[in-house]
Amino acid sequence: MRRKFIAGNWKMNGDQELVRQIAERAADSAGEAELAVCPPYPLLPAAASQLPFGVALGAQDVSEYDSGAYTGEVSASMLLEAGCRYVIVGHSERRTLYAEDNARVAGKFQAARQAGLIPILCVGETLAERDAQRTEAVVGEQLSAVFDAVDGAAFQGAVIAYEPVWAIGTGRTATPEQAQAVHAFIRGRVAERDGQDVADSLQILYGGSMKPDNAGELLAQPDIDGGLIGGASLDPEGFLSIYNAAAEG
Ligand code: 13P
Repeated sequence: MRRKFIAGNWKMNGDQELVRQIAERAADSAGEAELAVCPPYPLLPAAASQLPFGVALGAQDVSEYDSGAYTGEVSASMLLEAGCRYVIVGHSERRTLYAEDNARVAGKFQAARQAGLIPILCVGETLAERDAQRTEAVVGEQLSAVFDAVDGAAFQGAVIAYEPVWAIGTGRTATPEQAQAVHAFIRGRVAERDGQDVADSLQILYGGSMKPDNAGELLAQPDIDGGLIGGASLDPEGFLSIYNAAAEG
């Protein structure tokens, strides 16, 4: 049985006050599910010191390199030292706004794993790709790049987030059936390459306008193991109510 996992991606939002509020609320909501927050880099130290035991910390991006002359970049070992357990790689905003291609994302995934961080690999199609019935082709290519870059069971101990680009920040959520179909496809691909055991234990999160009022029906799907929450993770009450839906479900 996979544990449900709710992670908040603050993107370029938040401040010390939000760290304080989330830490305070999270202290009252220990449950069966896992909980993580991914604030911007400068807020990591405050979050690391204030979040209650059991709430994990994640970063939103990582360099594919270990160290060196890469101005503005942050390495996986630095994130580990800052108290991170998770790191998001290949978010669609990184892919589209900062031109990260599948090969670069795979390099970041690999760097995170090698340092001992748990990568949360984001995959997902645009609306044009969905309309052209290319969802599985696009998501399949995003997964293949990681399979090509990593020897052995690539997704052992990793997390995948299916985030349809057309649902991110739009208020337009994938239906539970649409999301479930892609999650099942992803799990099937991982089973083919990494084996059934790895696929069965893999947490696959849904992301894209997940809110307190639609989380329950998404989380009830057999292959939806949690959520990567953007906008709604900035509201401590709403975020924790999504977590509670996962913990009770
Ligand atoms: P929203 O929840 O704001 O749609 O963002 C989802 C997301 O991009 C999480 O990584």
